[in-house]
Amino acid sequence: MKGIDTVAVLDFGSPSARLLARKIREARVFSEILPFDTPPEKLKALAPCGLVLAGGPEGTDHGAAPRCHPGIFQLGIPVLAIGYGMQLLLQEFGGKVRAAAAPEYGRATLKVENPEPLFMEFSGSTVEVWLNHGFQVEEPPPGFTVLAAAAHAPAAAVGNHEKRLYGLQFHPEVTRTPAGFSIISNFLYQVCRCRPGWTPEAFIERTVAEIKETAGGKRVLCALSGGVDSTVAAALVQRAVGAGLNCIFVDHGLLRKGEAERIRRFFQDEFPLNLVVVEAGERFLKRLRGITDPEEKRRVVGAEFIRVFEEEARKLGTVDFLVQGTLYPDVIESVTRDGTVKIKSHHNVGGLPPDLKFKLLEPFRLLFKDEVRVVGTKLGLPEEVVWRQPFPGPGLAVRVLGEVTPEKLALLREADSIVTREITAAGWYHKLWQAFAVLTETRSVGVRGGKRSYEHVLVVRAVTSEDAMSADWARLPYDLLDRIARRIINEVPGINRVVYDITAKPPGTIEWE
Ligand code: XMP
Repeated sequence: MKGIDTVAVLDFGSPSARLLARKIREARVFSEILPFDTPPEKLKALAPCGLVLAGGPEGTDHGAAPRCHPGIFQLGIPVLAIGYGMQLLLQEFGGKVRAAAAPEYGRATLKVENPEPLFMEFSGSTVEVWLNHGFQVEEPPPGFTVLAAAAHAPAAAVGNHEKRLYGLQFHPEVTRTPAGFSIISNFLYQVCRCRPGWTPEAFIERTVAEIKETAGGKRVLCALSGGVDSTVAAALVQRAVGAGLNCIFVDHGLLRKGEAERIRRFFQDEFPLNLVVVEAGERFLKRLRGITDPEEKRRVVGAEFIRVFEEEARKLGTVDFLVQGTLYPDVIESVTRDGTVKIKSHHNVGGLPPDLKFKLLEPFRLLFKDEVRVVGTKLGLPEEVVWRQPFPGPGLAVRVLGEVTPEKLALLREADSIVTREITAAGWYHKLWQAFAVLTETRSVGVRGGKRSYEHVLVVRAVTSEDAMSADWARLPYDLLDRIARRIINEVPGINRVVYDITAKPPGTIEWE
């Protein structure tokens, strides 16, 4: 981002790069993730105040091991190299590194021998770290000194102060290294002399100015879903273009209980925007009639959404820009474990007819999800909007198993609303990635009011997750589960059995369809 000190993070194909990039931003320095083989010229053009080599695959001694360009070390940019990155750094400067048979991580206690500058708060003491035992530093390169050592890692942190090059055999970006944030901050502020400029206020100010410059006085269109990304994007763009922003909210009739009304009221009364609400529930239900295949349901909802959106967009006349809630993880070229670079396909306007010629406005293309939330709060959006749990685009169509009918939707809405209310009342809403109900096609026998019943089985699903790539089922208290089940069976005729889903992802997915 222009005018803000930046640190470049080279990605060698492990989650380390993203975690490091986020920690650096938490320390208020902007970070950019670049592929491991970024040429020196590109790096020079970016002019970062520091360079971080992230962790990566096991060892550097096989043909496919990703290697950075040696020229990057000649630019005079301070380097912090972690794990795999440390191996590359030390080898480049003539050190000796020996690979262990298998990668292994574990806790270790480091004795700080040379505290300045990375360990300055830990002079004469020890630090607990998450160590990479996959290799051993046999001999640091000439000019490098040992900063900290562990029993089985005699050179767990090394540095060449003159050249401002540092290598860590442990991972400062993970929570298992409690001192990690201080160590990263010391690199940023003591070694690189970065200025802290990455704040939500600075992001808002610059982005608003940029949008004003590109789209001021033009007509901008935004599809509002009521979710975090589109809501915060609309709020930010409105700050820049004011009445030039037109929002369309397509109510596909597949939302949770009271949701459509809540969204309409919010954008009319609390956070007024130019908003068109399209009531399209009947159209969607008609298209979904008779369809039971999950993928087909998703396709039908997606295609109908585009059709409705397009009709409304045409009514507005010429539209110059379309707002997209693209996030940074969608934009970075991710490096896979085998070292190849995978270019992520943007989930953008695919499907809109080519004669609707919008330019894209992607105000969050540099942000992680948690940063979008912070920006939302700074823009004055309420907690319950900014901290909403994710909700799938196809809505309840993928939570009503089998054919989607108005009757089944009504049952699911009632049950789901009880799940949400009880989870919220018990203080669990913000501890979970998602909690919701799924209506199955299975019916079971029960007894209601002394009579035999034969009704739907409902699933309660509650998961914890960092990023939805993996998830675990939430260990909700038994009495909370009990309250949920009793209320649903008592208050929702048509459901006579409630089960709790205890499947992790993988092998399951979060949604059922
Ligand atoms: P799965 O079921 O794949 O879901 O484990 C991962 C996360 O993505 C959400 N999800 C969707 N979000 N459109 C969306 O915007 C979709 O079609 C969609 N399908 C799943 C899901 O709720 C979970 O948070």
